[in-house]
Amino acid sequence: MGLRILALFLGIILGLSATGGSDDSGALQAIKIYLDNTPPNWVGFDPCSEQWEGIRCTNSRVTFITLSSIGLSGKLTGDIGSLTELQTLDLSYNKGLKGALPDAIVNLRKLTNLILVGCGFTGSIPSSIGLLQELVFLSLNSNGFTGPIPPSIGNLTNLYWLDLADNQLTGSIPVSNGSTPGLDLLLNTKHFHLGNNRLTGTIPGKLLSSEMKLIHLLLDNNQLTGSLPSTVGLVQTLEAVRFDGNSFSGPLPTNLNNLTKVQELFLSNNKFTGPLPNLTGLNYLSYLDMSNNSFDASDFPTWITTLQSLTSLMLERTQVQGLVPTSLFNLANLQTVILRNNALNGTLNIGSSFSSQLQLVDLYMNKIDAYTENVVRYSNELILAGNPICQQSGADAQSYCKISQSNSSSYSTPSNNCIPMLCSIVNQISSPNCKCSFPYTGTLVFRSPSFSNLENTTYYVSLASSLMVAFNKYQLPVDSVSLGNPHKDSINYLKMTLQIFPSGGDRFNRTGIYSLGFALSNQTYKPPPQFGPFYFMGDQYEEFSAQVPQEPGKSSSSLNTGVIAGAAAGGSVLLLLLVLAGMYALRQKKNADKAAEMSNAFGKWDSTENSGGIPQLKGARWFSFDELRKITNNFSESNNIGSGGYGKVYRGTLPSGQLVAVKRAQQGSMQGGVEFKNEIELLSRVHHKNLVDLVGFCFEQGEQILVYEYIPNGTIKESLSGKSGIRLDWTRRLRVALGSARGLQYLHELANPPIIHRDIKSNNILLDERLNAKVGDFGLCKSLGTDEKNHVTTQVKGTMGYLDPEYYMTQQLTEKSDVYSFGVFCLELITARKPIERGKYIVREIKIAMDRSKELYGLQVILDPVLVSSGTQLRGLEKFIDIAMRCVAESGSDRPTMGEVVKEIETVMQSAGLNPNAESASTSATYGEDSRGNIRHPYMEDTSFDHSGAFPPSRVEPQ
Ligand SMILES: *[C@@H]1O[C@H](CO)[C@@H](O)[C@H](O)[C@H]1NC(C)=O
Ligand SMILES: *[C@@H]1O[C@H](CO)[C@@H](O)[C@H](O)[C@H]1NC(C)=O
Ligand SMILES: *[C@@H]1O[C@H](CO)[C@@H](O)[C@H](O)[C@H]1NC(C)=O
Ligand SMILES: *[C@@H]1O[C@H](CO)[C@@H](O)[C@H](O)[C@H]1NC(C)=O
Repeated sequence: MGLRILALFLGIILGLSATGGSDDSGALQAIKIYLDNTPPNWVGFDPCSEQWEGIRCTNSRVTFITLSSIGLSGKLTGDIGSLTELQTLDLSYNKGLKGALPDAIVNLRKLTNLILVGCGFTGSIPSSIGLLQELVFLSLNSNGFTGPIPPSIGNLTNLYWLDLADNQLTGSIPVSNGSTPGLDLLLNTKHFHLGNNRLTGTIPGKLLSSEMKLIHLLLDNNQLTGSLPSTVGLVQTLEAVRFDGNSFSGPLPTNLNNLTKVQELFLSNNKFTGPLPNLTGLNYLSYLDMSNNSFDASDFPTWITTLQSLTSLMLERTQVQGLVPTSLFNLANLQTVILRNNALNGTLNIGSSFSSQLQLVDLYMNKIDAYTENVVRYSNELILAGNPICQQSGADAQSYCKISQSNSSSYSTPSNNCIPMLCSIVNQISSPNCKCSFPYTGTLVFRSPSFSNLENTTYYVSLASSLMVAFNKYQLPVDSVSLGNPHKDSINYLKMTLQIFPSGGDRFNRTGIYSLGFALSNQTYKPPPQFGPFYFMGDQYEEFSAQVPQEPGKSSSSLNTGVIAGAAAGGSVLLLLLVLAGMYALRQKKNADKAAEMSNAFGKWDSTENSGGIPQLKGARWFSFDELRKITNNFSESNNIGSGGYGKVYRGTLPSGQLVAVKRAQQGSMQGGVEFKNEIELLSRVHHKNLVDLVGFCFEQGEQILVYEYIPNGTIKESLSGKSGIRLDWTRRLRVALGSARGLQYLHELANPPIIHRDIKSNNILLDERLNAKVGDFGLCKSLGTDEKNHVTTQVKGTMGYLDPEYYMTQQLTEKSDVYSFGVFCLELITARKPIERGKYIVREIKIAMDRSKELYGLQVILDPVLVSSGTQLRGLEKFIDIAMRCVAESGSDRPTMGEVVKEIETVMQSAGLNPNAESASTSATYGEDSRGNIRHPYMEDTSFDHSGAFPPSRVEPQ
């Protein structure tokens, strides 16, 4: 408390001087003390002139606070009441924001929008809220509010939007009684969203009247009782009505058919009695659910067949009997008919002119004894299980006698004519426009959509495009949006994930997130009408791009600066020191834990009980760190032959004279001890002349080092780009393809268990001193265990451009994924182009340009100019392209195995008069030098490394 007062005091003094009279600054300083994760630029003393993020001011007074989705936690203190000019307060999607909504909000007399969607507020809604006469928008949904709906809300004559849904509110719906106000007075309100609470009592007749302008009346999933008052039928503006999931009883009012604009009507899961209502004339009614009530037994109501807009009819357990009229299925928009658990009998005839959208007819547990199949057959889902027709002998074979019904769809927004990028490596996601970035994510929840066919993708397409239109209109920095996993939850809300991708960068800044959050929490965005009322539940966004440079020396800890300021100002230097000492100790402990973890992993190699026992090595040996230091001349820069994301590679000479490449992982790219051990075991097992050999390893003093045989002539990528100075003619390229295919064939077919490389690409295929191809860098390789013979499900890894799209989609890794990458590599080999160059994907480019009726398939312009201009005949090139294209077939099952590829390349070579088994004839290659006179070295992820002239450009003799 003392701290808080000090800070407040300090804030007020400084705030007063800064803002000329008001204490907005002091109030915000005070509010901040009880909140974690406030924006990092909330450090000064004047929110207005310093432009604190999430704050907007007018005339040096705070008028807007919008801080959605940033993981704010703590509680909102009464100091908020000092911001008397505040018009909008949006703290949505901060689940850590807990405690009660302070009574002091009563002072916010200018507040028009109070939006606290999806926070963790508890306690009752303060009754003083009724004094906020300017309120237009009140969204307190999806919190933990308890207690009654304050009658004073009825005092808010300007209220347009009232959303208190998804809380734990109790008590009855308040109506006015002369002395106290009630919701019946809200004559300008269009939305009553009160569903999914614990409200009790009846709906007072007085609540509803013909003067109201309500369009959404959502009272579903409460504990309301009694009968529906006939005044419901007076509110002719209603479009979406949910009374389902309560304990309503008695007959329905007969004037429901007065609601001529209603589109969705939910009466299900109550105890309604009496006859089914006659809803003739509800020409916009799309979704009608009257399931699970106690209506009088009746024939199937014929008026239903006159509802021209009907998409969804749910009449489960409603005592309907007799025939299902064929004309029902003629309704042009019909998608779903659920008539389970009734007494419908006779013959079912869907007719020949049924709705083209019809996707489910569910008559489970009725008395249907025959089914007429017509010339035009209905072929979507039909369920007749539990009917006499399915008890006849042989009926089991009929698909309609099985039950299978799902309330979800696997839809997700597809890519926009581009190849999805492999973004998972950097923890990003590929947008529909195939750019890697950190999207803002969350869930869209539609409380009463007018449709039920979740397979119909046009809904999602129109939803996504309407989102983009809105974001563009409000000039929000959005590249694209993606929708996924649409499904109905247990209370019939349609939910789907929404990912919003940033434009102009790989992440949003804070202002971007607040603006997006506000556009969705404030209902600024309106979905297409079929979707009906909705809300958005944003996830916390953490990957902010910096907006304001961090002050030098500012602690990166989340410790509140307000506390430090307060402590220091109060002379509590001791306290400050204690806090700092604590932080320091914490960090030291973290470091110590990390170190312990590392050495533990190593220690495990000595323990026999643990699966991470001593590596089972074949041929590879253990090196001490000191030994490697010696052979690389203390990892000297002059021995550095390259670097990549994982660390650096050094050349070294063993005492035996053998040249080795020492790959030293850097801090941050180390794997766990167990993974490192696995990698070594895997690498040491494979020995083939077309694979780079592992010589040994070192795991000591926090180092992870792999020692490989030294491959002197660089990568194929370097050769093709001219960097290594090694130029490959057509024959040599065929030999490279054959050699690397044999290496891969060995991994797939001869290694035991088989190994999938997972990262075949031109900079992982190296050229030895005799220009034999060697496949290297098994960093990502995966062995197929015996119990998972055909595939393994893994997190997708690999390199953009080479990645098997099928693997990417299904995450099922098979050998065929390597075959795909190999196919891309072959195309690279003949074109010398990167797989993705200036947004063009080589596989697609060749597919489009290829004309099999022409010489060289008409690909002269795409082929490597070095090949085309060499003057030599490119014998077998067409056949080679055929092989490559089969390797990049979309479906893995259409691709050849590596064994087949090897045979086919051999055939191509033979028919071109070459001996596939001849040892390398280095005469067909030309050694060259790059601009610095160096021969470049492999093992690199990026080839743009620089080493300063130390590496001899001479041929290394084979040992
Ligand atoms: C309703 O508002 C009036 C002022 O417009 C105020 O005097 C009255 O106390 C309010 N009633 C409640 C219950 O908040
Ligand atoms: C239908 O609604 C109108 C407008 O509210 C009202 O005047 C009329 O009385 C209603 N009819 C019935 C039968 O309730
Ligand atoms: C339902 O109402 C319509 C129009 O009000 C009427 O024509 C029709 O006969 C009614 N149907 C039944 C079954 O009562
Ligand atoms: C269907 O049920 C109705 C009412 O229960 C009955 O009158 C009729 O005879 C039944 N029809 C057939 C074909 O079973």
